[in-house]
Amino acid sequence: MGELVVDKHVKYILSVEKRKDSFESVVLEHLRMNGAYWGLATLDLLGKLDALDSNEVIEWIMKCQHESGGFAGNIGHDPHMLYTLSAVQVLALFDKLNVLDADKVANYISGLQNEDGSFSGDEWGEVDSRFSYLAICCLSILHCLDKINMEKAVNYIASCKNVDGGFGCTPGGESHAGQIFCCVGALAITGSLHHVDKDLLGWWLCERQVKSGGLNGRPEKLPDVCYSWWVLSSLIMIDRVHWINKDKLVKFILNCQDTENGGISDRPEDAVDVYHTYFGVAGLSLLEYPGLKAIDPAHALPVDVVNRIFFQK
Ligand code: FPP
Ligand code: ZN
Repeated sequence: MGELVVDKHVKYILSVEKRKDSFESVVLEHLRMNGAYWGLATLDLLGKLDALDSNEVIEWIMKCQHESGGFAGNIGHDPHMLYTLSAVQVLALFDKLNVLDADKVANYISGLQNEDGSFSGDEWGEVDSRFSYLAICCLSILHCLDKINMEKAVNYIASCKNVDGGFGCTPGGESHAGQIFCCVGALAITGSLHHVDKDLLGWWLCERQVKSGGLNGRPEKLPDVCYSWWVLSSLIMIDRVHWINKDKLVKFILNCQDTENGGISDRPEDAVDVYHTYFGVAGLSLLEYPGLKAIDPAHALPVDVVNRIFFQK
């Protein structure tokens, strides 16, 4: 088994950041705010956040903010809760949350809460438990959780719970590890984990580990590096991480590295991308791989950043 090729991954992230006219960047232009979060959080976990000019990034982020308070994926695009959390997370990484009008961002988010406690992702109204997580995580970072109806928000998430212990995107929706992360994360942040049947959910989650050591997101699906994050973070939040084979998962993630040019792919031999590079490194951080910063499983930010937000206000 090879080791984590830290310097190669740093080079890869920096090269993607520079190639703004590449095919990948053009196709994913509207997602650029997410890309910034994935790339910069990776650099921070690797201890290399200072390899980038933070002023340039912060200036660009603030140009993506709309009058409503929400952030878009790039300049000139529409705001969405997804990009709003990414923008806030990147500012938190740089210890620059003070450039924000927190109330303005919080008002955008609270305006997206529906009567039944659920959240829409943007003004067009699609509802999904992912948006409940985005809202709650973002308001938590901004110290503004009092701006929403928390009881209704928690009850809505609890209503997405299934008989297998997992959670879906809406009540009755199939259990999926990505949605489980969102629901468990939101319940953890709001101190509501009593809504989770930890043994039942822990069993469903640890069954996601397949022969190769990798984790899948649902029964019968192929393993995928990003589920190292969605599944593992959930297992940690419910204290059941010892139910999977950690060594085999470390090996699976390391086998998905491009050891020549850097970057991590979804599974061995596939093409690398920033998304899987981040969730691979974040997964290794949860697995306490040596040399990586620790990451907070609920806020998806390095623990030192989370401590700064909550204990040195
Ligand atoms: C799988 O997606 C992942 C999810 C459904 C969870 C997405 C979570 C968020 C958007 C919340 C923000 C996350 C963080 C870490 C701050 P997929 O479309 O790849 O699923 P598939 O494997 O079924 O295709
Ligand atoms: Zn994936």
